[in-house]
Amino acid sequence: MNAPADRLGAAPPVGGDTTSTCTIDVRLDGAAWATHLAEATADGLRSIPPWTPPVWFYDDVGSVLFDRITRLDEYYPTRAERSILARHADEIAGITVATTLAELGSGTSEKTTLLLDALTAGGSLERVVPFDVSEAVLRSAAEEIAGRYPGVAVHAVVGDFHEHLGALPTGGRTLLAFLGSTIGNLDPAERSVFLRNVCAALSSDDWFLLGTDLVKDRSRLLAAYDDPAGVTAAFNLNALAVMNRELGADFDIPAWSHRAVFDEEHRRIEMHVVAGADQMVRLASLDLEVHVHDGGWIRTEISTKFTSEQVAEELDAAGLQTVEVWTDDDGDFLVTLARRR
Ligand code: AVJ
Repeated sequence: MNAPADRLGAAPPVGGDTTSTCTIDVRLDGAAWATHLAEATADGLRSIPPWTPPVWFYDDVGSVLFDRITRLDEYYPTRAERSILARHADEIAGITVATTLAELGSGTSEKTTLLLDALTAGGSLERVVPFDVSEAVLRSAAEEIAGRYPGVAVHAVVGDFHEHLGALPTGGRTLLAFLGSTIGNLDPAERSVFLRNVCAALSSDDWFLLGTDLVKDRSRLLAAYDDPAGVTAAFNLNALAVMNRELGADFDIPAWSHRAVFDEEHRRIEMHVVAGADQMVRLASLDLEVHVHDGGWIRTEISTKFTSEQVAEELDAAGLQTVEVWTDDDGDFLVTLARRR
């Protein structure tokens, strides 16, 4: 997270739509970001237990696999959150009267569209701010939004939400959305820092919309992260292929398998890759060798499951006050609307 702060320039317009202004604010320097990810991965692999950052899931192949996950019968979070937004987007638009919708993560999902449609119908929307680490993802998101909502300005930010929330444009009323329970990927200390940063980035007229997956029956949780069709297994093991390519690693992928466990202490799903034999993995770009025993494992993701009280408490501890909460019919997922206290 050491992107130099001088690479700001709002840069060339994308898309050809003359009725929308479209800018990209690049806060993340590609080389510095790569160095940061390499360092984070080396730190994780030297830890006990060893872990790797979830960023390695999302290359082109992994993004397609994640999309398939969201359509699995067992993976309820995406459908549950979408049903909440389908039912309550108008209410959210009515309460917030937001002029800017900023979204951490891609910003072209069907869920985002529900919010954009409601804010457009309510007549308040002037600007959309998709925020992502990938410039390529943002360029296509920006074009799609500009095409679909003519007259709405698109101000894309290439940034890391741990580092660059200060790049969110100010003025008007911003609804900052962080959906999909992506916050569950953060451990408690990271969530605390992140939520404080969110609070600091909001002005008193702004709003924060947070999607969180809820604690539920263990067998349903485990099935959501270990589907019988093996899509989640392929998604998990793809991270090893990405590290082979991006970090010059030599994971022998057939020697590893997927495992999902529920950690009762932290109330979170953990995804592991488990070694089927003693082996040594070399990661050339990290100048690191990792010895793994038969049955040894690496944690590739945590996916925290919350209670609604816990979400309100964590928001409150960061200076954010819960204004409204919504769940789906089955009580599987929570969407919280908050603002600065
Ligand atoms: C996109 C991080 C919210 O934790 O449920 C899906 C990713 N991992 N299946 C999640 C994921 C395995 C997902 N998030």
